[in-house]
Amino acid sequence: MTIPFIEPFRIKVVERVKLTTEEEREAALKKAFYNTFNVPAEDVFIDLLTDSGTNAMSDRQWAAMMQADESYAGAKSYYRFERAVQDVLGFEFVLPTHQGRAAEGMLFSTLVKAGQFVPNNRHFDTTQANLLVLNAHPVEFTIPESEDSSLIAPFKGNMDLAKLEQFIQETGVENIPIGMITITNNSAAGQPVSMDNIRQTSEIYHKYGIPFFVDACRFAENAWFIKIRDPKYKDVSVRDIVHEMFSYADGCTMSAKKDAIVNIGGFIAFRDPELKQRIAQNLIVHEGFLTYGGLSGRDLEAVAVGLYEGVDESYLNYREAHTRYLGEVLRQAGMPVYMPTGGHAVYVDGGKALPHIPPSQFPAVALGNALYLAGGVRTTEIGSLMFEHTDPVTGAPIFAPLELLRFAIPRQVYTRSHLDYIGEAAAKCMRDADKIRGLKIAWAPKVLRHFMAKLEPVD
Ligand code: F0G
Repeated sequence: MTIPFIEPFRIKVVERVKLTTEEEREAALKKAFYNTFNVPAEDVFIDLLTDSGTNAMSDRQWAAMMQADESYAGAKSYYRFERAVQDVLGFEFVLPTHQGRAAEGMLFSTLVKAGQFVPNNRHFDTTQANLLVLNAHPVEFTIPESEDSSLIAPFKGNMDLAKLEQFIQETGVENIPIGMITITNNSAAGQPVSMDNIRQTSEIYHKYGIPFFVDACRFAENAWFIKIRDPKYKDVSVRDIVHEMFSYADGCTMSAKKDAIVNIGGFIAFRDPELKQRIAQNLIVHEGFLTYGGLSGRDLEAVAVGLYEGVDESYLNYREAHTRYLGEVLRQAGMPVYMPTGGHAVYVDGGKALPHIPPSQFPAVALGNALYLAGGVRTTEIGSLMFEHTDPVTGAPIFAPLELLRFAIPRQVYTRSHLDYIGEAAAKCMRDADKIRGLKIAWAPKVLRHFMAKLEPVD
């Protein structure tokens, strides 16, 4: 297998990591109540829990941080950050927040009332939770093809346009204060959304006068997929693709911890100056003054540089190929990989990998734990531990459409030999797959239960 790609950077600073023994990992997992969120990072050899905030920054980002202005109001760093958002994304107004979920919280608490509905192709867990705490209803219309983990199609993250429009007509526009789309579609295996689909989603929302916001965490990876998978965009630059994607929207929420390649930061960007005034009230109470929003000047500088580095095409070419390579390695190790691989992560179909474990016993969590035991590799479940909920009418459990195990790749952190090592751990784990046991919940909080749940192996 040859996939032509090479890291378009070299390494200047390293962090030592330690490989523990299988016995040590077994003890660590038990102490963590079989939930790897509770395992100390020191006991993890390769950490693919998330690509969020786990990135290695560049020399230019670190250099910019040294020049930061830490003034409370009107810092030079804020204006550099604002210019980068205007230039790369094309929105005139921006408010910084400490991370993506704060941006969602500020936007929703300003626009959404209890009992109202917010459609999306698929909400991420924090987006969903930010609506639930307002007693509003997150609703989702990703195309059904996304639920087939072996179907090869270019844009499986797309919105189901017919279902979206039908929902708007049946629910009434007065009950839908804002409409969203998430690019790439993290909860649907990191699949991209096509340009046509973004435009048509925008047309539907706008036909009914609903403001359209993009959850933009991985906008650069989405733009790269449009370039390599939609022949119409093969000769269009990523910078132009990004501008076109956002030209259809009224604004976006952003976790800079992803495609702005930083460790902390986020923002809300939009075109409407009146909305800025309305959100500003909230922002000052919860995050900070308008020109820092919970971030230091150093953080704003890192985002300003990272936004440009995140849309660099040689970087994006490497990024997609690096992720695809991990997909190949895992397939060769016998894992049922969700196809095609996403931008920031490889997703494995835990339900297919462990058919003897039902969704009620969280097969993807069980697979992730087995992988941790096999090689100290930490991943995360995007399945029923994260998304199971109760049918409001019948009270029956509704499980996630797929029991996925996500291998999220921090940006610019791991080399190809790290990926090969993950393949070896995966092969070891799959050799004894039929011995892996399911899990049950010993304790869990009501909202975002996967972060803190205590689990036990089923007998
Ligand atoms: N939207 C999407 C699509 C996300 O993936 C995330 C975070 C957020 C919003 C919230 O951003 O973490 O900065 O508050 N996703 C991380 C993940 C945590 O692991 O996928 P945040």
